Formats: sequence, structure tokens, C-alpha cells
Amino acid sequence: MLEEWGPLGPLAGEWEGDGGLDSAYSNSRGEVISTPYREKATFKPFGPVVNGRQALYGLDYKTAMWRESEENPFHTEVGYWLWDSDAGEVVRGFVVPRGITVLAGGFAEADAKQFTLEAEAGHARYAIGENQYLSERASTRHYTVTVILHEDGTWSYDEQTMLKMAVMDEPFAHTDRNTLRRAADG
Ligand code: HEM
Repeated sequence: MLEEWGPLGPLAGEWEGDGGLDSAYSNSRGEVISTPYREKATFKPFGPVVNGRQALYGLDYKTAMWRESEENPFHTEVGYWLWDSDAGEVVRGFVVPRGITVLAGGFAEADAKQFTLEAEAGHARYAIGENQYLSERASTRHYTVTVILHEDGTWSYDEQTMLKMAVMDEPFAHTDRNTLRRAADG
């Protein structure tokens, strides 16, 4: 079962989850609020991608989150997850269409059931890019995500995005977590 994809193999497919929880600063409310959400995600395997001696196997992914009754998602991502088996390196590159790109990385065993990826503003490898407005008003300084593959075939993520908001003195932890199960048509 997708052995070349290492710890990413179990993520291939179509997913959904309705137990998401977001904590963010709401500009319209002027306070930090918790928002439950539902999510649909698709992860499509591809590979190998060859860089000289390096061979990567990846998942082309997109995900979207909705508040309870909304028609349009309030958060989306597109990107790639990549596995380098020789280095044991997992990399996730994605775009948040607020004008943010993230390349988060970490190391794992091929059969890992849990792994953590990180990115930091200005890091030499795993870095964050953002538009001018966000760099001045709501700058993403650090990003980390932990993925857990459960025995029953579901998987969870728990992520923390540290934001330096102009309206707050201290960096603020914008957090998101959800558990995803295979969609009926996946
Ligand atoms: C499940 C994942 C996520 C959800 C559901 C989510 C949702 C939200 C929500 C509801 C807001 C508040 C917007 C407002 O009311 O003004 C927000 C703000 C923000 N999010 Fe996320 N977010 C997620 C992940 C991320 C990630 C991964 C990043 C960056 C790497 C990010 C960066 C930001 C930034 C910079 C803002 C501040 C915008 C501003 O105040 O001008 N978010 N997000």
C-alpha cells in the first residue's frame, strides 16, 4: 500500500471531518474566538519527482473548511506533501489564499504513526512568505503541525500558527485541529 510514500501513504484518498476547531483573532469582533468547522480534503499520490540523486514521492492536496451552515469555505489550502525516504524527510508546501506560503519540514521513520513539521519566518529551509499587508498587520512567525495516524484508519492534525498581530503586544497562537475519516466515495 503506497510503500514509497513512507509515512504519507496512509493519507492518500478523500477525507472529511466535522469536529474541527479553530481559534483565531476575529477582526470583525475584535477578540479571539473559537470556531467549530467541517472539512473536506483530497490527497492524490504522485511520483517519483527526481532532483539529481533525490527521489521524492508526494501527495497533491487540497482542503477546505466551512463554518456550520456556510456555503463558501472560510479557509482553504492547496499544496504538496513530499517524502524523501533516503533522508527520512517530510516536507509540506502550501498556500493559504490570504497571501501566505509555507514550506514546513521535519523528519520521520517510514512507518511513523506520528510526525511533526515546522516552519519559521526567515528560516534557511523551512520558511514562510506573506504579502505586505500581513507582514505589517498579522505576520506569521512560526508554524507547526503534528499529524497522528490512528489504528482505525482515521488521522488527526493539530497545528499552531504563531501570529504577530498589530493589535496585540505578544505573539498570538492561532490554532486548528481536526480528525479526518475516509469519505464514502474515497
Ligand atoms: C484549519 C486551518 C485554518 C483555519 C480554519 C483558519 C481560520 C482563520 C480565521 C477564522 C481567521 C480570522 C479572520 C478574521 O475574522 O478576521 C484567521 C486569521 C488568520 N489566519 Fe488562519 N486559519 C487556518 C490556518 C492558518 C494557517 C496555516 C495560517 C498561516 C500559515 C493562517 C494565517 C492566518 C493569518 C495571518 C490570519 C490573520 C488575518 C488578519 O488578521 O488580517 N491560518 N484564520
